Amino acid sequence: MDPYYIDWINLFIRWFHVIAGVAWIGASFYFVWLDNSLQDPPDWKKEKGIKGDLWAIHGGGFYEVAKYRLAPEQMPATLHWFKWEAYTTWLTGFMLLSLMYYFGAETYLIDKSVMELSQWQAIGIGVGLLAAGWALYDGLCRSPLSRNGYVFGGLLLGLSVLASWGLTQVFSARGAYIHVGALLGTLMAGNVLMTIIPSQKALVKAVKAGAAPDPRLGENAKLRSTHNNYMTLPLIFIMISNHYPMTYGHEWNWAILSALVVITAFARHYFNLKHRGVKQPAILVIAMLMFIALAVTVKNTREADSAGSQQTAEATTDKVSFIQAAAIIHNRCASCHAAKPTQAGFAEAPAGVLLDSTDSVMKHLQQIQQVSVDSNYMPLGNLTGMTDEERQQLGAWIKQGGGTE
Ligand code: HEC
Repeated sequence: MDPYYIDWINLFIRWFHVIAGVAWIGASFYFVWLDNSLQDPPDWKKEKGIKGDLWAIHGGGFYEVAKYRLAPEQMPATLHWFKWEAYTTWLTGFMLLSLMYYFGAETYLIDKSVMELSQWQAIGIGVGLLAAGWALYDGLCRSPLSRNGYVFGGLLLGLSVLASWGLTQVFSARGAYIHVGALLGTLMAGNVLMTIIPSQKALVKAVKAGAAPDPRLGENAKLRSTHNNYMTLPLIFIMISNHYPMTYGHEWNWAILSALVVITAFARHYFNLKHRGVKQPAILVIAMLMFIALAVTVKNTREADSAGSQQTAEATTDKVSFIQAAAIIHNRCASCHAAKPTQAGFAEAPAGVLLDSTDSVMKHLQQIQQVSVDSNYMPLGNLTGMTDEERQQLGAWIKQGGGTE
């Protein structure tokens, strides 16, 4: 198919995915807030079995919401479920993953310098991880381990670090990041499909039959929805992470991702405690300090890297001329980064970055350094076969001022 139209399909699915995700996460944030903001209702409501109520104003109208301790005396005619937001988000996410990383595996998922994989091997690992990840997680949730919140949280975090590390050992950096995201998204949607909705169905059935629902169902659903709540923020970071090459482009990209997962889940903890009436602002301050410490650590380790490669660059190459540098960029970058790319599968210059003229190259020196000298992120999947020596020469040329002589 014409890559131009594939770009439009990509746009449509991505747009849809983000909209569905906003609806899902928005609804889930709203209900967490709702649950935690309920107040003691007046007696006449208590007599009807209402546990808490609240008033709100939005969009020019008053709303009165009530939550039942167990269930209303009679099933209402219409009951809203809030499940399609989750399913649609997962389905569109999987379509986008397939379109970009599976259909375009050679470009986006496979990095031959990390591991030589065929397209089908890479897809097998990706899909296999999602299935195995769900099976393992689901099994752990059903085991007695899940009874201790902190121990279980620690165990899940440990497994997510392991997944991040493992994936960076087989896939391209972006491919690894997106699969950690796809895994979290699969666990979250799986929780809705396999646990939360079935337990709600059982609840509705019990109410209709006038029987008491099994409290275990509710507890199980609560555990899964708490997990979903903690996974939300890290997942959103991964969704936007492709804008931040300083994260996935780093040698320790898996550790940076893991640190961000810990920091964001920790920050989420503050809000969860706050909703329960426990205010511990120290958590937010610590999370912010950890975030800053991470930024500084990443910078220092990166500078150490490039200082190292810079020394070798200076030792092995004397002055690198513009002609040499331009030839490297022309040979290794311009097949994609041109107004009319010649690389199969590309209709436009990726990320809007043009590297096909002197002017355009000069505008992007810092970025070129970041993606192809400090890291091996570009050329994507090293499709154009850039050598380490060429990276060093490019680095040396930029270090020497990036002049046009
Ligand atoms: C096979 C095609 C291809 C080749 C060859 C290629 N790139 Fe890219 N480049 C891309 C794609 C696709 C993106 C968008 C990346 C994304 O969405 O993560 C990109 C993005 C970029 C960006 C923007 C990064 C950002 O996140 O803003 C820069 C800078 C860049 N490339 C530089 C280079 C340099 C320098 C070379 C040569 C050393 C190169 N590219 C070779 C496909 C390519």
